Amino acid sequence: MVVGAFPLRDKVAIVTGGGSGINLAFVVLAVSSGAKCLIADLKLSPEAESILQKNPGKIAFQNCDVASWEDLEALPSAVISAFGKDTIPDIYIAGAGVFEPKWSNFFNDSETDFYRTMKINAEHPIKLTRIAMRTSLRANKPCVVVVVASTAGINGTYGAALYCASKHAVVGFVKSMAPADEEENVKIVAVLPGVVDTPLWTGAEAKDVAAQFSFQAEGAITADEVARTMKDAIEQSQLERSPAKRSLPYGDVRPNEDDIEEQS
Ligand SMILES: NC(=O)c1ccc[n+]([C@@H]2O[C@H](COP(=O)([O-])OP(=O)(O)OC[C@H]3O[C@@H](n4cnc5c(N)ncnc54)[C@H](O)[C@@H]3O)[C@@H](O)[C@H]2O)c1
Repeated sequence: MVVGAFPLRDKVAIVTGGGSGINLAFVVLAVSSGAKCLIADLKLSPEAESILQKNPGKIAFQNCDVASWEDLEALPSAVISAFGKDTIPDIYIAGAGVFEPKWSNFFNDSETDFYRTMKINAEHPIKLTRIAMRTSLRANKPCVVVVVASTAGINGTYGAALYCASKHAVVGFVKSMAPADEEENVKIVAVLPGVVDTPLWTGAEAKDVAAQFSFQAEGAITADEVARTMKDAIEQSQLERSPAKRSLPYGDVRPNEDDIEEQS
């Protein structure tokens, strides 16, 4: 049996990265559709803080670093603390993500043990899906997982190779997991937005990256548009594919001088 139509009304969602941007827009839309949301994020933006204050009992916050599996494993219990005994999440949004931060990208190569971008963008959606599946199977109830991927999950961009690799990884994962809908009553889908006008580009820490990739709000879609697609992906049994508006520009990035071997 497949999950089928899954209205947001009376559902409980865990939303990683819900403290800002696309995932915050989804939280607002979900709550206005009758759902409750646990935001799992490192922090809340001022906008998210104010929305949380205005929606007591409907939105809760759990401090969570999605790179930590311990933090991810704690989320179903955090839902119980927030919304009551026996509450089992129905929806899991793997939305937290980073875009080519200075501290984790291919060309700066400042990391010594692993790429944190891969932990955040690629490993966390996979682990969260496993947690979702385990929690739902134990409770014998269906659930939906939405992975916020990107057109960078199907296109390559030289200047954002690590980001593209991380998003390709989750697109491959979601494709592989399609049978879980019928096999386990767990529907796993991805949304692949193009460029979206969010703090990922407009935030204080995003100035360099916005200049490097020539971000322009006029060419971008809005977080609300992506949130509506996420809602449709959850609620509808058959989702029509909508074309992405624009994928990442090339990006003005070159390898560090030290990395370029002298050509003799
Ligand atoms: N903005 C775009 O152009 C665009 C396009 C396609 C896909 N996406 C994807 O959409 C998702 C949301 O991005 P956004 O544009 O809303 O950006 P955003 O910066 O507004 O939101 C990202 C959120 O993720 C959180 N986050 C980052 N690292 C985390 C960690 N280790 N643990 C917990 N939370 C963490 C941040 O605190 C923030 O609240 C990301 O996965 C991003 O890759 C964005």
